[in-house]
Amino acid sequence: MREKIAELTEASLMGGGEERIARQHAAGKLTARERLALLLDEGSFSELDRLVTHRCHDFGMESQRIPGDGVVTGFGRIDGRPVAVFAQDFTVFGGSLSEAHAEKICKVMDLALKFGIPVIGLNDSGGARIQEGVVSLGGYADIFLRNTLCSGVIPQISAILGPCAGGAVYSPAITDFIFMARGTSYMFVTGPEVIRTVTHEEVTMEKLGGADVHARVSGVAHFVRDSEQEVLSAIRQLVGFLPLNNAGDPPTKATQDPPNREDPALDSVVPEDPEKPYDIKAIIRSVADDGEFFEVHEHFARNIVVGFIRLAGRPTGVVANQPMHLAGVLDIDASVKGARFVRFCDAFNIPLLILEDVPGFLPGVAQEHGGIIKHGAKLLYALAEATVPKVTVITRKAYGGAYCVMGSKHIRTDFNFAYPTAEIAVMGPQGAVNILYRRELEQAQDPDALRRALVQQYTEKFANPLVAAERGFVDAVIEPRSTRPLIIQSFALAWGKRDWMPAKKHGNIPL
Ligand code: COA
Repeated sequence: MREKIAELTEASLMGGGEERIARQHAAGKLTARERLALLLDEGSFSELDRLVTHRCHDFGMESQRIPGDGVVTGFGRIDGRPVAVFAQDFTVFGGSLSEAHAEKICKVMDLALKFGIPVIGLNDSGGARIQEGVVSLGGYADIFLRNTLCSGVIPQISAILGPCAGGAVYSPAITDFIFMARGTSYMFVTGPEVIRTVTHEEVTMEKLGGADVHARVSGVAHFVRDSEQEVLSAIRQLVGFLPLNNAGDPPTKATQDPPNREDPALDSVVPEDPEKPYDIKAIIRSVADDGEFFEVHEHFARNIVVGFIRLAGRPTGVVANQPMHLAGVLDIDASVKGARFVRFCDAFNIPLLILEDVPGFLPGVAQEHGGIIKHGAKLLYALAEATVPKVTVITRKAYGGAYCVMGSKHIRTDFNFAYPTAEIAVMGPQGAVNILYRRELEQAQDPDALRRALVQQYTEKFANPLVAAERGFVDAVIEPRSTRPLIIQSFALAWGKRDWMPAKKHGNIPL
């Protein structure tokens, strides 16, 4: 019996055999086991269900049983912390999902949920095992249910490292973060062939669902990297910011960067001219421990920037308007991107730093018809709902509805600061003067001179942080150089914060 077990174990390690492994390598891809070796701490992997096989008797499948059945599952460690993993093996029936393959994934997910540890899925699959029909589809639905039940309880991370098509996309889609590798991974619900037949559009796999398309255009992918090795290393980095589950705190990391470090360069980071752009990431990096910023959704909706930093060792989520792109306006994509990130942080006890420089929502028929009302509401809802410690710093513009949305005091933000350059008002001076004084301007002998004077008057009265500070909507007007010390002090105070939500089954976020 020992010999038999050793033989089966050896067979499971070889997956689909040497030839198919060589084909996998020739396609620029690693095998499932090679990927796990890079993802996990050395020697930490312990495998489950290595000897599981499929139960299919059709299409000659009874004579083709490969132990493991196309997915490697188990537990390992990342920087010493436990994670559950599954890695589909494309060398075994194209990594396709059989009933047994799905059961293996479900088992490791059930255990991860029970143990309270993250699940990382490495996807590389031809989809439902065609020979098994509806049994395989049932397997997908069993996984989707678990993805949904795990959502908000344990972090779920997906890497797409090969094909991921049809119904298979909906497991990664429900998880918290999707990574893709350039050139070797693609995701779509219907492929180029079906599209050609139904809509007569010609498109390649890469243009339809490649890594860059999903990172830049659809926003489906949160991270894109040039190689599988870089994807796996980035997953390790991401896990370093996350708690094991929603009942735990995110892990702290020791730093030599002093919490009271001021940065005089910040005093001049916001240009005098309110129309001039600047890079909000300069402020993010300045306040972060060791200047380290792990950006999420870097290439999608670049008018808002989201990602993780550490402050005095503690992971913190950042949501920041980016004046370098579309002047930092909120549009549909930016609102959805921001809302999703905020809800992740709130679910997993990660405090939120909001850096605000927003001229308002993007005007336009396309935005209105595209539903900016309901999409913008997502960001508002997410920030209002969040009960983690929240600190907002207004660096420059905070206009109109966008003022309310971006972590205003009114939606229970704990600390609100403003730079002296802040402009907090219903709208910008030009627009306000044109509406308030239209009749006077039409009748004026020198409308330009009158407009200049009125704009000056409005700017002095409203385009500054004083009115908000007088009301206590802003707790303090601060010198930019002191941003890091102040926000670290603020988060330290709010760390043990308790906030409440009325009892409910769940809210009804506008979708
Ligand atoms: N079910 C069963 N076996 C599958 C499979 C599936 N869904 N998808 C791929 N395979 C098998 C292939 O038969 C092949 O087996 P072999 O090594 O014994 O020859 C192996 O996996 C590799 O597939 P191959 O087509 O040679 O790889 P490729 O890189 O050229 O193409 C795909 C990859 C995914 C584009 C292609 O296999 C495909 O279109 N698969 C079907 C996708 C699908 O429609 N799935 C069902 C809907 S969810």
